Amino acid sequence: MGDLLKVAMPKGRIYKQAFKLFHQAGIPLPEEADESRKLIIPFPEAGMEFIMAKPVDVPTYVEYGVADIGIVGKDVLMEENRDVYELLDLAIARCRMSVIALPDWKPVINPRVATKYPNVASQYFREKGQQVEVIKLNGSIELAPMIGLADRIVDMVETGQTLRENGLVEMEEIFQITSRLIANRVSYRMKHAEIQRLCDLLQVTV
Ligand code: PRP
Repeated sequence: MGDLLKVAMPKGRIYKQAFKLFHQAGIPLPEEADESRKLIIPFPEAGMEFIMAKPVDVPTYVEYGVADIGIVGKDVLMEENRDVYELLDLAIARCRMSVIALPDWKPVINPRVATKYPNVASQYFREKGQQVEVIKLNGSIELAPMIGLADRIVDMVETGQTLRENGLVEMEEIFQITSRLIANRVSYRMKHAEIQRLCDLLQVTV
């Protein structure tokens, strides 16, 4: 088991698309992996072992080397800023990071910005030379302007449905998001052949 390539897979919305991608690459992941409560899923036929992780933790596992490689959204990579190699843009789970507000928002001094991505938001407004107060939330970010907690939010937009249903507008796009294949720096050297093989398989599909 020691030689299996350890792959940190994000549970939830990315998994379904990653599943399809691996399938197309000839690596038929178990479809139910996402739904089962099992956290470590060995797949010796493919020389891999999957670690089912909360998406935001994938870069942490990879930086510390408990996973050799991982799949993670660019949003999490930008926020976590971990010391990992970004190997491949998998072109799945496409969405964007945006600044969002109520349609009648007005510029105020030191506006409050609610977000799950405090580092991304702080950096964005710092680069624009705007002083803001960042409030970290863990979900349902769209609530913040609606209930008067924040003037704006920084959040992911995929279909735009959440914005539409809550009467919010996208003011500015910060960056495009897709999922990336990342690798631990030491694993990338020590298991180069296996990792490169996987990259080649995945690359033909993207
Ligand atoms: C994400 C994001 C938006 C929504 C965007 O939330 O924070 O709320 O998806 O998708 P849409 O543009 O297709 O509506 P998520 O579903 O991850 O839940 P959360 O509120 O717990 O962050």
